[in-house]
Amino acid sequence: MANAETQRRPRLFGKVAIVTGAGSRGDVIGNGQATAILFAREGAEVLLVDESEERVGRTLDAIESSGGSASAFIGDVTSAESCQSMVETAAQRYGRLDILHNNVGIGGGGNVVDVDPAVWDRVMEVNVKSMMLTSKYAIPTMAATGGGAIVNISSISAIRPRGLTAYTVSKGGVMALTQAMAIDHAADGIRVNCILPGPVYSSMVAPNMSAERREIRRSSSPLGAEGTPWDIGWAAVYLASDESKWVTGVCIPIDGGVTLVSPSR
Ligand SMILES: NC(=O)c1ccc[n+]([C@@H]2O[C@H](COP(=O)([O-])OP(=O)(O)OC[C@H]3O[C@@H](n4cnc5c(N)ncnc54)[C@H](O)[C@@H]3O)[C@@H](O)[C@H]2O)c1
Repeated sequence: MANAETQRRPRLFGKVAIVTGAGSRGDVIGNGQATAILFAREGAEVLLVDESEERVGRTLDAIESSGGSASAFIGDVTSAESCQSMVETAAQRYGRLDILHNNVGIGGGGNVVDVDPAVWDRVMEVNVKSMMLTSKYAIPTMAATGGGAIVNISSISAIRPRGLTAYTVSKGGVMALTQAMAIDHAADGIRVNCILPGPVYSSMVAPNMSAERREIRRSSSPLGAEGTPWDIGWAAVYLASDESKWVTGVCIPIDGGVTLVSPSR
């Protein structure tokens, strides 16, 4: 006899999702890429958004080769025109929009004394303003069909600073934006939540990661393991699905317990 697990409906069955930054820079999987693959595996139709056709192509191939439904949209999420066109494309291709996963983010080092003000502005633009722009166009489209779920990617750097001040402030902004949007749009049936990834071995950090550094990251976790983009993706599946229908305005560290115990590294 088939058990309940094999009979269950995919967790995002019937939903249409946008994932920003859905590509990966190379062979190491990205947070956005893993989330897009899991969304598709759980039954969503996924619009894969990235500024690079080559990078997003890797994700599209992975989803299509396993029988999932996705398509690519090439655009820059710091552009209002791109964000508007991205939402219109999702609605035209798939008929509705239920999930917006705001994954795009870039690093930014230094303290306030040595940071280049132009770099500061760029980090705020890519990490915070982009999420306002994507949401600005997505929310009315989601609300038109009864609501939806937005997931914003912050970082544990927001709550554990370590010399990346522009990045830390931008990711703190993502937390505040999440809470403000959760209140502003709750009456439209829109839930807004936030994930704070910890030290995850992903496409973003892999180019700068030595074996020694990875060992420090692994040993800094009480669980004795480095995180993977799949850990972030599974949290996103929960927050995007109806399983979290009574959850809004929360910011969840997915970090192997790192922020509970470790010194700053
Ligand atoms: N890896 C970690 O340890 C870690 C820790 C904390 C938070 N994060 C967060 O995770 C997110 C990124 O993870 P990832 O692995 O997917 O990153 P990534 O750097 O591999 O980026 C994914 C994609 O985003 C695209 N992109 C960049 N800027 C864009 C723009 N303006 N418009 C459209 N696309 C753009 C890139 O082309 C790339 O394909 C970021 O928000 C980052 O701050 C990562």
